[in-house]
Amino acid sequence: MSGAIGVFDSGLGGLTVLKSLMSALPNEDFVYLGDTARLPYGAKSPQTIQLYLKQNIEFLKNYNVKAIVVACNSASSVLKQESFTELPVWGVIEPGAMAALRATKNKKVAVIGTRATISQASYVEALQRLDKNIEVFQQACPLFVPIVEEGLYDDPLTNLIVYRYLNPLRTVDVDTLILGCTHYPLLKTPIKKVLPFVELIDSSKVIAEQLKAHFPQTEMEHTQKVEILCTDNTAQFQAMVNLVIGGDNFMAIQKVDI
Ligand code: DGL
Repeated sequence: MSGAIGVFDSGLGGLTVLKSLMSALPNEDFVYLGDTARLPYGAKSPQTIQLYLKQNIEFLKNYNVKAIVVACNSASSVLKQESFTELPVWGVIEPGAMAALRATKNKKVAVIGTRATISQASYVEALQRLDKNIEVFQQACPLFVPIVEEGLYDDPLTNLIVYRYLNPLRTVDVDTLILGCTHYPLLKTPIKKVLPFVELIDSSKVIAEQLKAHFPQTEMEHTQKVEILCTDNTAQFQAMVNLVIGGDNFMAIQKVDI
């Protein structure tokens, strides 16, 4: 599919980003890669994640994509844009940080993410580069990804775990929370129960706005084509594609080797 936009994540979390991109950019086609065989990235070392990132970008180039969106915070946090000069590669960190700065009134922002994202402190770096007066509180939430993968979006166990991770943020008076993992938008409801007055920053929305500015959409007849690839085609991945993207929108899921 020549001229499509490539999107990848370690697995299914990036489907929330793909969905936002599909609605914001109706004139564009997409190739999505879920690296399900090597999931989770969030528990891996920066060196390993960097290797996967490079391999996924090289792999997507075979599809003649015109741009790539790294729809994974763990991978975005080790992305060095200057390493990929021949085509634009967008990560989710910078757009998420910019949106948080627009949203915060008291300049106290919290970031939640995988261990990999939090240990890289890439949001802290991006936020403080844009505004040195910003106070940033970080919290790794390693149990959130398996909860989402199990589909336990609204479950007593989920409420308990969300409370355990996020309750300390209530005492530091943050008014904005960056959902620094593409799985987390699926936990907005239990997160809102613990932090009802905090604005949630969903990077899938923000990155879609940024790409729209780069690829202006005109009103034209276009049947959007979406190709979904994965490195391990599990029933769980298929169910998630159906739930998030909807059955009619994509060609059959294809298993690929990277
Ligand atoms: N989607 C990944 C992220 O945004 C989390 C899943 C994983 O650990 O691979 O960080």
